[in-house]
Amino acid sequence: MIAGIIKEQEKENRVAIVPADIAKLKAGSCLVEKGAGDRSYAADSEYEAAGARIVDREEILKTADVIFSVNGLPDEEIAGLRAGQVLIGMYNPLLEPGKAQKLAEQGVITFSMELVPRTTRAQAMDVLSSMATIAGYKASLRAADSLPSFFPMFMTAAGSVKPAKVLILGAGVAGLQAIATARRLGAVVEAFDVRSAVKEEVESLGAKFIEVEGAREDDSAGGYAVEQSEEFIKKQRQMVHDHAVRSDVIITTAQIPGKKAPMLVPAATVEGMRKGSVIIDLAAASGGNCEFSKPDQTVVHNGVTILGPTNLPSEMPRDASSMYGKNLINFFKLINKDGELNLNFDDDIVAGTCLTRDGQIVNERVNALFASATEK
Ligand code: NAI
Repeated sequence: MIAGIIKEQEKENRVAIVPADIAKLKAGSCLVEKGAGDRSYAADSEYEAAGARIVDREEILKTADVIFSVNGLPDEEIAGLRAGQVLIGMYNPLLEPGKAQKLAEQGVITFSMELVPRTTRAQAMDVLSSMATIAGYKASLRAADSLPSFFPMFMTAAGSVKPAKVLILGAGVAGLQAIATARRLGAVVEAFDVRSAVKEEVESLGAKFIEVEGAREDDSAGGYAVEQSEEFIKKQRQMVHDHAVRSDVIITTAQIPGKKAPMLVPAATVEGMRKGSVIIDLAAASGGNCEFSKPDQTVVHNGVTILGPTNLPSEMPRDASSMYGKNLINFFKLINKDGELNLNFDDDIVAGTCLTRDGQIVNERVNALFASATEK
């Protein structure tokens, strides 16, 4: 089996597999596109020293049995693939069901890593958790850097400085990491989530958990949140408002997979915040948790700075690539037997991560989205 690692598009600094992990792939042979690791500080020579062959992109697209990527291949290249080729990467199927359809029509077998089930056995393959860890960490650093005041409390000869108040909305992987980082920087942190199960984790990181009664929870949702009633959302917005106007920073991370992000910070709340306050909206790519956020732009409204960075992991490419690649390798072990492909769809992780095969989209969630997108 020939494994190929391609270079990402210009705006992406990560690479799918770092040189140190090439041997762990245990493929028959390994091809790496020239310059694939440049933006994550991995030189071609390091890949060669690890046993890979540096080639041009065409050779990988034509000859590789398995193609590893971070963001997936562009549509023009999908059209040139051969049936049965295996793709492993983040193909963003919940936001781009049209791309999934193209992959299906081409007859390729696509494993989209965002679909890895959130089960204990699959934890070591969970790329969303790895990347959200980085995003949460970076969000707190970005907030501290953008705030016109300190995060920690200070007693100085020039008087004492109060610690910053940080409000985190959504305490999943990104939110918990944002809490931990803000706490390490000395801020006073409060957090809110619709899943009461995270209360203990929030408190163990030294933050206060804000409770709003009446949230809809679903144990069968695989650790994800479910959509909330109008009444609850109203109550929650009021609560967010009351805490936001006393905060210097809000970091929002609330999401429901495949749905538009819930709007938690409307105009009136932003307008009630102190000038100089900062909002970091990690959900900007899926509609945003704040009314003013725009993907990858800085918006200043009424003296409040609102940032909507959509790809923070790419800003920390060395560790992001290493973590992502380790998740990929752990998944690849399930379909690689002694250097040959061994696709066992009876394995729940293999089946659950598969997006397309036999000319069809085989993931139920994506199929439902595709059906509703074509109806519109
Ligand atoms: P997650 O699913 O682990 O956490 C999201 C949390 O939001 C859950 O705990 C959920 O219960 C909570 N939530 C949902 N609706 C809520 C509501 N109405 N109010 C309060 N909490 C609510 O997701 P993860 O992995 O932590 O990712 C969080 C966000 O960060 C996602 O939008 C994801 O797309 C984004 N992300 C952004 C990156 C960036 O660079 N901007 C990179 C990685 C992830």
